[in-house]
Amino acid sequence: MTTQPRHYSPRQTPAWGRLEALASAGVPSLRELFNQPDRASRYQLQCAGLLLDYSKNRISDAVLEALLALAAESPLTQQRQAMFSGAAINTTEQRAVLHTALRAHSGDGVDSAIAAEVAEQLAAVERVSEQIRAGQWLGESGRAITDIVNIGIGGSDLGPKMVCSALAEFAHPDLRMHFVSNVDGAQILQLLKTLDAHTTLVAVASKTFTTQETLLNAATAQRWFSAELGLTQPQRSRHFLALTANRQAAIDYGVAPQQVLEFAEWVGGRYSLWSAIGLSIAISVGFDRFRQLLDGARAMDRHFVTAPAAENMPLLLALIGLWESNFNHSASYAVIPYCERLALLPAYLQQLDMESNGKSCQISGEPVDYRTGPILWGQTGTNGQHAFFQLLHQGTQAVPIDFIAAINDNLSNPEHHTVLLGNMLAQSSALMSGQPAPAGQPHRYYPGNRPSNTVLLEELTPFNLGALIALYEHKVFAQGVIWNINSFDQWGVELGKKMANQLLQGDSPSDPSTQALLAAIEARRR
Ligand code: F6P
Repeated sequence: MTTQPRHYSPRQTPAWGRLEALASAGVPSLRELFNQPDRASRYQLQCAGLLLDYSKNRISDAVLEALLALAAESPLTQQRQAMFSGAAINTTEQRAVLHTALRAHSGDGVDSAIAAEVAEQLAAVERVSEQIRAGQWLGESGRAITDIVNIGIGGSDLGPKMVCSALAEFAHPDLRMHFVSNVDGAQILQLLKTLDAHTTLVAVASKTFTTQETLLNAATAQRWFSAELGLTQPQRSRHFLALTANRQAAIDYGVAPQQVLEFAEWVGGRYSLWSAIGLSIAISVGFDRFRQLLDGARAMDRHFVTAPAAENMPLLLALIGLWESNFNHSASYAVIPYCERLALLPAYLQQLDMESNGKSCQISGEPVDYRTGPILWGQTGTNGQHAFFQLLHQGTQAVPIDFIAAINDNLSNPEHHTVLLGNMLAQSSALMSGQPAPAGQPHRYYPGNRPSNTVLLEELTPFNLGALIALYEHKVFAQGVIWNINSFDQWGVELGKKMANQLLQGDSPSDPSTQALLAAIEARRR
């Protein structure tokens, strides 16, 4: 088992002190930084179909050097090696973190037993997805499946839903994918009204197969199948699949063993789209393209492992984010894709980033005395321009932004795409440069010096999307290591779950405010 060395704490490193000194001395403005004529080309990187421009950040060469020193003084190299080699770096749950093994090739150093297990599990995804795509997976009345409902929440929903929507260009023309996550019955009940049970297949996606919301939605789907098809045990029929790391629970639930698609315990929920949880992706775009998605992620994995620190895309994103958060005191960070098909990316990244790094306890058990994971938010441009960009340009706080766009888009046309990209470039440029107010019109002052990264995808292919997702996975990992926190547990969500269960079992809430709210609900509920 490898753990982060107990004596490490980022604030104790010489580099942290240097960064504090640089921040309090003040970094030249972005306009001044661009007096260096080669800044744009030096602060740019390419890999795995992605181009990162990080020149519009409030970092000088001296800051960058100190940030790289911070990475070098942290246990990043050891922890990265530990993660890729399957050591139990999730120390509170004694678990390995091996989602990278799901996309590895032979020769990448994955243990042969693990590689064989992954190959078998992916072969099941291929077999099932190809049968459904070919119209060979028949429902109880002998009709081919047309609608697939993924019932899952968190990582068992956000990843596959985001990827299916991002890869809409490649979607099977005769198959419709639906995602049900919320325990709010209005979601599933309204969806089921639109579906034909004879041609619908439900995939219950849950790593643990114990999640309250997912099991309640699955039970509702069962009742619907019973009512529509007269099945006494629909969960045993061809209409039900389980995607899970808890095979026994799915079998106990009644799902036919050959319809349980498994993945390993060492796949974290928010890293599971690469596993059987990605079945809906493989059904929608085909297994070959699912493979390309994995290959893109693998290309980013290899880059993360092999590229020198100063040219390492995930590491640079991590360090820039850390500089903004810890030294420039940015309270949040926005991800703005200029691509409507990436509309779900901010929500996906919220789980990846905030569930991973929303922590206040160091690996050693000591409380942190510095800011950790940022508040991540965002929505697509140009929509956001007509909503919250006012605050980004003239509000009292600078919000670092990641702009993301595809250079080419087969689903758009040159006219629209030129306007879309033009808007993105204009926004990042305006945020950086600002503008003085005309005389007597202080409301027209744009302070500028507002930082951003721009990530360009050659186009929105499965490969490039895989690389983009893995870019953020490794960014979040690198930040977690430097902050000396465990990015792979999520104890923060447990207390609320426990209290919900107690309340639903009839226990009185422990505080007067919640007691009063419960009484108000009970008095008015019809
Ligand atoms: O509540 C948080 C969480 O554990 C996430 O980490 C996970 O993705 C989600 O719940 C769903 O869990 P499961 O896949 O086990 O149903």
